[in-house]
Amino acid sequence: MHTASSNKTVDVTPLFQAAGIPTSPLTVIETAGMYPYKAKVEDNWAYYTAVGCKRFKELLDAEKKNVCDIGIVGICSGVEGIAIAKIFSGTLRRLIVTDVDEEILEGTVVNINRAMVEETTTVIPLVGSFCEPIEHAGYTVDFVHANVPNLPAGGEENLSRGAEKGTFIPSTFYETYSPPQEFVSWALAAQWAYLQSARRVVPKGGSVLTELGGRVPLELVRKLFDECKLAFSELIVGFKEQTEALIDFEGYHRLEKEHGVAFEFYPYEQGRKLLKRNGISNPTFKVSGEEIKKLLASQKVSAGEALALHKKGVPVGHTVHLFRGVKE
Ligand SMILES: C[S@@+](CC[C@H](N)C(=O)[O-])C[C@H]1O[C@@H](n2cnc3c(N)ncnc32)[C@H](O)[C@@H]1O
Repeated sequence: MHTASSNKTVDVTPLFQAAGIPTSPLTVIETAGMYPYKAKVEDNWAYYTAVGCKRFKELLDAEKKNVCDIGIVGICSGVEGIAIAKIFSGTLRRLIVTDVDEEILEGTVVNINRAMVEETTTVIPLVGSFCEPIEHAGYTVDFVHANVPNLPAGGEENLSRGAEKGTFIPSTFYETYSPPQEFVSWALAAQWAYLQSARRVVPKGGSVLTELGGRVPLELVRKLFDECKLAFSELIVGFKEQTEALIDFEGYHRLEKEHGVAFEFYPYEQGRKLLKRNGISNPTFKVSGEEIKKLLASQKVSAGEALALHKKGVPVGHTVHLFRGVKE
């Protein structure tokens, strides 16, 4: 249990400005258990969700698909929930937000309702893993979005703290979905479980969005969507410094040693400058993740190498993607 005195009020207005989402000044309350908002806008996953969902709305408009009901999994403080509610404000009826942590959800609902765009939208908080609480409550949604932790918890983490809760996931949450070993080795087991659970709460033609650090080969992500019977596309790609750097590099390096894989990171400043020199905005939908990875390829380092660079004070980054799967 966290005390009210450990709560912080965080100004998230710059994120909305950078994403081009009009808002009056906007703050959220952040508890110690919430994944922390970062002062630099481009360090926030919610920024990429916000820009990616604007792009998604344009595509849905072109496809003549209306959005009334949305699910967001692993919501945390609700910044991306506010962005999504604003983007889809014209038609949004139910915004269903889930997290494994009940205390987080209490704060999230306060944050979203304070910023709420339309009174005709109801925010429905549900506690549970992946899309399971949405399914159990009997809802279907036009689309569901998630940014779930990918690293299996090793047991020594303190999962009551926001940074660790946003990074590690107990394997018991995904093991019931029997993820194939290849996805387990590449830290994609939680993604597998989320996609499988999401298929059950969207209708045919509905969308499943996931935000994922591109630390894995993108062919594998395509394969993941194929095997989950979701038609794959990418909404946006960006480049982000690895936040929670030490615990992430150690966690991914542990998997490299256990499974003989090599994750894909890049020295941050070099990568950022290279993309800038090539006129690529962050994020973008004009260039694909595959093209960006080709451009960065000569600078690629593994998690083990990233850990060594981090220990020398060199910041390391990775690509970040918002992927869309359409239920076939
Ligand atoms: C990386 S944070 C994402 C925070 C925020 N949604 C964002 O994108 O900035 C991951 C969140 O997922 C939650 N979470 C972890 N495992 C989950 C699961 N199995 N199902 C639903 N949420 C989960 C955590 O409690 C945490 O709030």
